[in-house]
Amino acid sequence: MKIAVYGLGYVGSTTLACLAEMGHEMIGTDPNPGKVELINAGKSPMVEPGLPEMLAKHRATGRIRATTDGREAFKDADACLLCVGTPPMADGFVDQRVLEKVVLEIADLRLESGRTCPMLVRSTALPVVHQDIIAILEERLAGRQTPAYVVHPEFLREGSAIDDFFHPAKIVFGCTGECGRNFSESLYPGITAPTVYTDPLTAALAKYADNCFHAVKVTFANEIGALCKGMGVDSRLVMDVFCLDTKLNISPVYLKPGFAYGGSCLGKDLAAMNAYGKRTGIHVPMLANVEESNLNQIRAVADRILATGTKSVGLFGLAFKERTDDLRDSPLVILGERLDKAGVKIHIYDPAIYAVAYSGSHMAYALEHLPDLRRMISDDAPKVIGASDTIVISRAFPGLAWRDLPWREGHSIMDLNGSLDLAGVDVPVTGLYW
Ligand SMILES: NC(=O)c1ccc[n+]([C@@H]2O[C@H](COP(=O)([O-])OP(=O)(O)OC[C@H]3O[C@@H](n4cnc5c(N)ncnc54)[C@H](O)[C@@H]3O)[C@@H](O)[C@H]2O)c1
Repeated sequence: MKIAVYGLGYVGSTTLACLAEMGHEMIGTDPNPGKVELINAGKSPMVEPGLPEMLAKHRATGRIRATTDGREAFKDADACLLCVGTPPMADGFVDQRVLEKVVLEIADLRLESGRTCPMLVRSTALPVVHQDIIAILEERLAGRQTPAYVVHPEFLREGSAIDDFFHPAKIVFGCTGECGRNFSESLYPGITAPTVYTDPLTAALAKYADNCFHAVKVTFANEIGALCKGMGVDSRLVMDVFCLDTKLNISPVYLKPGFAYGGSCLGKDLAAMNAYGKRTGIHVPMLANVEESNLNQIRAVADRILATGTKSVGLFGLAFKERTDDLRDSPLVILGERLDKAGVKIHIYDPAIYAVAYSGSHMAYALEHLPDLRRMISDDAPKVIGASDTIVISRAFPGLAWRDLPWREGHSIMDLNGSLDLAGVDVPVTGLYW
């Protein structure tokens, strides 16, 4: 393919070199004449292992050239890869001006040439920025062409950019409608990686989720490190042990959006570490704010339910998770308490708790927050549904088919779980974060 790369910074220069290595005919464009001259001299505009050699090699093969002229870059291109900067503005929000300008320049060249050359946006931008730019693009194209705007996030890391480029963990295309499913094979011949074709907004957020997670991981390791050091323990060994656990730690477990955590261990052990930090003056602001963030999840759900004006809520699930009758620190107890105190009539379906309502070892905790719990709790799902307008479901219950329950007009469901089978349930469902 003939590919134009807009922006010859870290991402653009690497892309130019690596795609040339894969056999494409590349042209890069950047308004910075210094970068363009360096590339045309077969040199790298930035420090990146392996990049100078690859650029020199493909200047020699003739597969790479660069220009300051965007029009020249577009002339024969089959696809445009946009790798321009999206720096932060004063409040941290994305400065979209360069990206928008380049998109419109390419749009004009597309209209002029009559070629719907797709734009693959490798620059990182928030969904709202892409939405805005797509709307501006559509206005400029005025129905004469489809947007052919693809959010194609780049996941490489500086310092190992070339290796990352040839061995990506995943390839993501967020397409506006007509995205060709063969993009990946055409662009990256020989590269095998899980490839996702999705919508532009999901693709954009996949990149942000990654980087937020990386930032959280580094901060987490450093805060654990600080507490370990304070306790005279080598955090490198602790984290080596931590990383051995690919079942619960380095795994998809606990990485599904859903309701707050609870139970007798997470909050308690987090509190112990935070208390140690406080007593010894070791500042761990991320760990110190986790509980507040967790409580905020409960408050936010309660507020969303109360904002509907509902008078009665059926809580499906009260224990802190499925397959237990443990109520300690259950976020569902706290949610029930907030709703109860706000004057909402509460009905609860949880057969495991119903069975131990007078004997359970942790009923005291629940009764402290929900004094009327024994009146609220039931093992009769239809009865709870019948008595409630809003049904809040935190988990599936084995043997309970949601569609067979006595739903009626006026019912609504808040799904806190995200993987419930609600097929055939003909009432409005609000997902917590989906
Ligand atoms: N650096 C990384 O490791 C990395 C990794 C993944 C994604 N990203 C994202 O990729 C994008 C580019 O990052 P970068 O680090 O390569 O940025 P960079 O600042 O190194 O490069 C951006 C380039 O765009 C050029 N440019 C400005 N206006 C232009 C125009 N009108 N036409 C063509 N080029 C123009 C600039 O001169 C500059 O050379 C950003 O959105 C960034 O968030 C960066």
